Amino acid sequence: MMETGEKVPFGRLDVEAGEKGELVRGVFSRVAKRYDVMNDMMALGMHRVWRRIFLDRLGVYEGMNLLDVAGGTGDIAFRAVERGCRCVTVADMSEDMMEVGRDRLVDKGVVSEVVWVAAAGEYLPFESHTMDACTIAFGLRNVVDIEAVLGEMHRVLRPGGRMLCLEFSRPPSKALEKAFDGYNRWILPKVGRLVVGDGSPYRYLAESIERFPDAESIMGMMEDVGYTRVSCERLSGGIVALHKGWKV
Ligand SMILES: C[S@@+](CC[C@H](N)C(=O)[O-])C[C@H]1O[C@@H](n2cnc3c(N)ncnc32)[C@H](O)[C@@H]1O
Repeated sequence: MMETGEKVPFGRLDVEAGEKGELVRGVFSRVAKRYDVMNDMMALGMHRVWRRIFLDRLGVYEGMNLLDVAGGTGDIAFRAVERGCRCVTVADMSEDMMEVGRDRLVDKGVVSEVVWVAAAGEYLPFESHTMDACTIAFGLRNVVDIEAVLGEMHRVLRPGGRMLCLEFSRPPSKALEKAFDGYNRWILPKVGRLVVGDGSPYRYLAESIERFPDAESIMGMMEDVGYTRVSCERLSGGIVALHKGWKV
């Protein structure tokens, strides 16, 4: 867990832990309205494939009590509802992202199945041992304290519950890593400027990907906070990692 006054990465900068939350909230406020369009453009539509695999691995069932941390505009929540889940809670610290998501899901006829809660993943306002599954998709690299978020997700899971995390990662192939970094660093902010009118949030996204711990380190942290049967599936040559763990 994080010490008081400890510095954390925010893009290529190191900032006080207390400062990062506000900076990240600002990034997502600025992109909220175009976030879904941008998702398609930045990952060339690949995020749809990664998310489908993620939901396959989650194994949704009707009575599942699912918590999606850093759930943003509710993409994972919507996909879980599409697969029959009737009880999803989205927790995110950006009201702007959730507002866009709420409107989008209402337009699709999804209302009572999803509850939206403004909360930081580091301090989840839920009872312990209550969730059947906890997910976090493309959220972990943005949080202030990765271990605290993993620990909170573990706390609210019921014994026998599963945690799944989908996140960008470091591809084992150096050539692919170089191409991926080049795309993120040079192309992504330009696409962001065209689509959102501001390249800086996408420069942050690229830098946050570069500085995020590798898959082995994330697995180590999951074990440290108590998950068992921790595993990792690399997708698209390791550009993305799908982490899975259980609470016993
Ligand atoms: C890249 S978006 C991912 C959104 C969504 N999970 C998806 O798959 O599209 C990252 C989200 O993490 C949220 N976030 C960042 N730090 C957070 C924190 N400490 N606690 C809760 N949400 C956080 C942001 O507000 C944003 O909505």
